[in-house]
This record gives sequence, C-alpha cells and structure tokens, in this order.
Amino acid sequence: MHLTSPLTATAKVWLLLIALLPTLFSGCATLPPKETPEAARGYTSEKAMVVSAHPDASRIGMEILRKGGNAYDAAIATQFALAVAFPVAGNIGGGGFMVARSASGDIVTLDFRETAPGAATERMYQDSIGKVVDGLSTDGHLAVGVPGAVDGMVKIHQKLGSLPWADLVQPSVDLARNGVVLTQKEAQGLNNSKQSFINNNKHLPYLVQEQEWQAGDTLRHSDLARTLERIRDKGREGFYAGETADLFVKEMQRGNGIISHEDLANYTSVWREPVTGSYKDYKVISMGPPSSGGIALLQLLKMVEPYNLRKYGWQSTETIQLMTEAERRVYADRATYLGDPDFVDVPVNELLDEEYLKARMGTMSLAQATPSSAVKAGELPVYETEQTTHFSIVDPAGNAVSITTTLNGGYGSKVVVKGAGFVLNNEMDDFSAKPGVPNMFGLVGGKANAIQPNKRMLSSMTPTILEKDGKLFMVVGTPGGSTIMTSVFQTILNVVEHNMGMQQAVAAPRFHHQWLPDEIQHTADAIPAAVRAELVSKGYILKQRGQFGRVDAILVLPNGKLEGGADPRGDDAAAGF
Ligand code: GLY
Repeated sequence: MHLTSPLTATAKVWLLLIALLPTLFSGCATLPPKETPEAARGYTSEKAMVVSAHPDASRIGMEILRKGGNAYDAAIATQFALAVAFPVAGNIGGGGFMVARSASGDIVTLDFRETAPGAATERMYQDSIGKVVDGLSTDGHLAVGVPGAVDGMVKIHQKLGSLPWADLVQPSVDLARNGVVLTQKEAQGLNNSKQSFINNNKHLPYLVQEQEWQAGDTLRHSDLARTLERIRDKGREGFYAGETADLFVKEMQRGNGIISHEDLANYTSVWREPVTGSYKDYKVISMGPPSSGGIALLQLLKMVEPYNLRKYGWQSTETIQLMTEAERRVYADRATYLGDPDFVDVPVNELLDEEYLKARMGTMSLAQATPSSAVKAGELPVYETEQTTHFSIVDPAGNAVSITTTLNGGYGSKVVVKGAGFVLNNEMDDFSAKPGVPNMFGLVGGKANAIQPNKRMLSSMTPTILEKDGKLFMVVGTPGGSTIMTSVFQTILNVVEHNMGMQQAVAAPRFHHQWLPDEIQHTADAIPAAVRAELVSKGYILKQRGQFGRVDAILVLPNGKLEGGADPRGDDAAAGF
C-alpha cells in the first residue's frame, strides 16, 4: 500500500509548473507533448486505488480493499472516515451523489441529496417585504436540509456491498475515538470558523477550544464515535431514529430549526438514471438531476467538441474564449431549467440535444466576448413545463466509484449536534431563496429550484466516470460549489486534449465563468499575461480569485496501471496497491 504525502503532492505542483513555464511566461499557446512525462505523473498503483481529501480516509478505504472488500465497501468506509478526518466537508450530516460503474460496465447512480424539511416554505428566507434575509439560508439551524448521507451508504451496502456493514463503519469509530492529527490547513480552518461555531450553537461545540488549534494537535471526536457506533449497530435506524434522531431534533429545537422526527424517518435516497453522452472517443457518465453537474458537463463538452482545442493549445486565448462562452450559456440554462426531477420536469434530452448545443455556440464569435446580458437560457425545442468533497475509487476487479458529498459551506451551517458530535449542512442555500437573487456561490435560479417541502435543492456536484473503447478510463469529481462542473470540464480536457497525466491535470491552474456575474474568474497563475491582455481587449472581464476546488481522480493508463490525481491544493492523498 502506498499513501502519497503532502510533500510529494507539493513536489508534483512544482513539476507541473516547470512543465508549464514556457506557456505561462511566453503568453503563446504550446502544443502538448506527445506523451505525458513519467516524472510528472502522480502516484501509480498496479490494481486498486482510493483518492480522497484526507490521508486517513484514503488509508481506511484502501484497507477495506486489502481485506477483499469491493469499491462500494471502500466507498462506504471512506465516506464515514471523511466525516471524522475531514469534518469541514466530509459528513454524516450532509448528502451527496454516487456514480458507479461495475467491472462489467453496469452503471448505477445514487442520489443521497438532502431534502427540504416538511415545514419548509417557498419564502422562508424572505422578510415581510420579500427581501432575502442575509445569512438565514447559510448559517444556523434554519439552513439545514434533511441529511441523506447515512441512508445513502446503507442503500449502497444493501445493493452492492460485500463485507459486513459493521466492518465498514468500525474503522471510523476507532478513528473518531483515537483522534485525528490536525494538519496546518485543518487547524487553520477550525480557527477561522471559531466565531461562527460560537454564534450558531447554544452550546460550545467540541470543535472550539480556548486557544488556537495548531498543526499536530490531536482532535478526538468522542460523541461522534458513539453516533457512529449506533450507525454501526443499527444501520439506518442508528441515525434516523432512536438516540441520534432525538439528539438531532433537540438540537433543532434549541436553535429554531424545523427538521422533525418525521422528516428524519421519511428521508430516502433514490437510485436515478445516469446522464450519459460522448466527447470524441470517450463515453461520459455523470449525475443527473437534482444535480445540474452531469447535464452541464455534457453540454460543455459537446459545445467545445467541434473546435480544435488541442491545436489552439492549453490556456490559449481561443481555448479560454471557447470554454468561457460555452460556460456562460450552460449556466444560463441551469438557472432556468434545472431542479428536483421529482417536483419539476427537467428537459434533459432537450438540453443535451446536439443541434440545440450547436445553435447555442452559433451566437459566439472569437472576435469578441458575448456579454452575459445578451445571453438568456436557450429556447428549447420542446419544453413543457465552496465546501464539498470528492473521492474516487477503483478496486482490483475494476469496479469504479465516484462520490461527491457535501455539507455545502465549510462546516455547513456550523451547527454541531450536541451530544452526537456531527456537523449539520447548510444545503438549503442551494435552493433559490428568491428568483434572481444569488446564493452564496453567486448562482441565480428561478421557479424550477424554488423551495418546496421535501424537495431536493439543485446541486452542481459532478461525480463522473469516463470510458474509452468500452473500458474504464477515468474516475473524477471535485468540490467547489458553482465551479464544480467547470473544474471537472477542465480536468477532463487537460487529459484528453492537452496530454496531461492525472496528477498534472488535477494540479493545473483553472478558470471559471458562470454567466452571472459576467467575469472569468481565475487564479493568479491560470492565464498567461499576454492572453489576459488579449481577452480584455476582446471585452472579457477577468477577476483573480483564490484557489478552486480540490479534484481527486484516477486515470487508467494504457498499461492497465492506475494513476492517482490527488489535488495538491489540499491534504488530499492517493493510496493504492
Ligand atoms: N452544495 C454544493 C452543491 O451541491 O452544488
């Protein structure tokens, strides 16, 4: 077994930057190398791999594979381990989506997204004059959706698991009880959220201590260990009923939250149809509604497919323009048409129609930017009506799992269930609190994503699997709120158009456009200076920002080995054998 260290990951970024130096400083696009340089590859393993946001979670998933568990067993163990080792986003108090492909090519997708509580109302975040009240959908008890993560894991186990349930939860019980050694980033994250934890809880959560957390401190999760034991022993009932549910509902009552025993008892995750499409020789399999991620990714890929991105070059003016113009149009569609398919008719086929997508790109020109004010959602042929975390797993048999899971914001609502030790999501902010009013990611929405009791809020999560020639090619996904789909889009193009290895593709700097606000967001190193100047001259607005989400991915190499891409922006780690 191997576990990449943060040092190795940092070294990988340097390797990448060295490889990209000519492009970054000349401002000219460079053609990709014919082969990915071996030195720039990430950790490779012979037959099995787990890549996640935390070394302990990757190790626990890998140990399950070592014991003969399959990728689904490892995914369950990894999900619970992230709830302990990576509480900023890993969770049992949130939800997510799984896209999985069996070794024989069967696809399943599971929606364990949170739901609005039964007492939720369309205008619950607006005041008496219809103004959205700042912070109400993002902080505290009213921001919480009914969690789906535990039900999701139980469903995966019932359908696909091979090892006993208790064996998959026990490593996380041990981890919670023994404690996790904090990295610098984790200590800083907890310190930055200290005041929010204090403001949003009536008790002092165990994630807060008087002095600052330091790298190297051990954080023990005693209440969470007991909650996990109940889940270990009683499965679904260990969370949605009994002592955990009682503690949950008491916590709600302490802070004027509205989730009831009935909401918890009624929660159910749903097996859904995947969305699938193609990009050149690749079959792309991703998550359908209530995530917008899969549809958006397939639209983006199809919209740029006719253009020779490889010839234009990585981060060339033309490549950035084409990707930006596709993104602008896709996010306009998202705001209008996407929502929970159990409540609204989502025109999936129409949104993915090739002629429609070609026509959407027909309104762009490489001579100048299309202002977002001139872009609305497309006229469909027929229309009836920034914390999350991702992990990727491949087992020795070739089963692949791609799971993105979230509390929404960092530490979600910041509410910690007293006596149960877990953090609650603030997923209600992913609904449209009012048409046209942006949520915390700046995303706008309308009727399709309005709040209704028991409805699922629209997501951007994009757990994705690619096949080439009918065989597994890539497992990929990322956190990052509204930037999720564009990060997955870029990572895929980095590999298939720009010949990067998995680690290079994951570590490469990124940019993003989401229709509104009308700006290309980019990190300092993402776009060469000369290209930035050219884009500005064509009418694009550029805005430098902090890092994007941490992509964790696995690539199947031509020799059958697996290459991990563990995002060096975090403490992410690949483990394999
Ligand atoms: N909470 C982020 C998303 O689901 O898109």
